[in-house]
Amino acid sequence: MSTVDSDREEFALLVRGLVGHLEWARQCGSLHFSREHDVPAPYVMEPWLDPPLEGPREPHSSPPSQRQEVPAEEPLRPADRAVEPRVSDASVASPRTLTAPVSAQTPSTKPVVATSVTLPIEVVSPMFFAELEERPELLAPVLSSANLSAEQRVRALSVLAEEVSACRKCQLCERRKQTVFSRGDSQAELFFVGEAPGADEDEQGVPFVGAAGQLLDKILAAMGMSDRDVYIANVAKCRPPNNRVPSLEESAACGAYLHRQLDIVRPKLVVALGKAAANFLLGRSSPMDQLRGIWHDLRGIPMMVTWHPSYLLRNPDAKKDTWQDMKVVLGRLGREPAPTTRT
Ligand code: URA
Ligand code: SF4
Repeated sequence: MSTVDSDREEFALLVRGLVGHLEWARQCGSLHFSREHDVPAPYVMEPWLDPPLEGPREPHSSPPSQRQEVPAEEPLRPADRAVEPRVSDASVASPRTLTAPVSAQTPSTKPVVATSVTLPIEVVSPMFFAELEERPELLAPVLSSANLSAEQRVRALSVLAEEVSACRKCQLCERRKQTVFSRGDSQAELFFVGEAPGADEDEQGVPFVGAAGQLLDKILAAMGMSDRDVYIANVAKCRPPNNRVPSLEESAACGAYLHRQLDIVRPKLVVALGKAAANFLLGRSSPMDQLRGIWHDLRGIPMMVTWHPSYLLRNPDAKKDTWQDMKVVLGRLGREPAPTTRT
């Protein structure tokens, strides 16, 4: 490939990223970009690995292949994250109960200084440029998800759930009854990531409601937690036929939505349930004995990997491992297990 071609390709990539970002900002409720604002730092490719840009910027984390497991650290204190009023996530759990689209809602007038930028993987239609010319109000201050209020977070997730419900990016759309977006609370400190919906989830449109989900609920109860304390989503949002593991292509296509969910929720900790979710998030392909029970660095968010509840249903002896892992997670959150399960 000539230098000109590769420059062109790089430029096309940049433009696609920018367009993707504009779409994302619009979905987050942005109204216009302000020229008066000083953008405090250069835009970055992977925003949710970057801290908010109040202090000096940390260097980027290393690519997945060079990443080290992070050692356990001081427990996170509840005060580490600003407490925001809870906003009901009921509208997010099922796309059928979505709130009005962003464009139909009253925007916040408070200016938000641009911080970091999400460049979604999906390519947004060039029509978006034409739309921008006709509707300049779509150009808004860039909202970083780090700055999203509780309400904006719920709204951004609602818009994303709506987008997912119409998605046909991979072949899993063909046999789904409906997409399965999330369950739990978008203010949660703890984000559980599963693999893909099964038959019950496909039927109900909610993750982890079948047998594996009932076991997950028991684990949560033992942790002294409920759906108010966690956010739960899968790598794939549509049920794979015969509950097979999503292919790499399917995971890559759908995983972009999971990254956006992580970006919006910005949990303190992530728990990957099983090998498929863990390997997808870490961008590697490792066996469980190299993944489970240790802290991983998910672009700045500590992530614990534990057994998938379906595996635990087949191998009940492994439940003690998962309980061990969950106690480590609770310790890092500065929380105690439920009184009946403290041992
Ligand atoms: N298994 C998963 O990984 N996710 C679900 O939602 C249900 C079962
Ligand atoms: Fe779209 Fe994900 Fe469903 Fe594939 S699995 S069609 S990417 S929502």
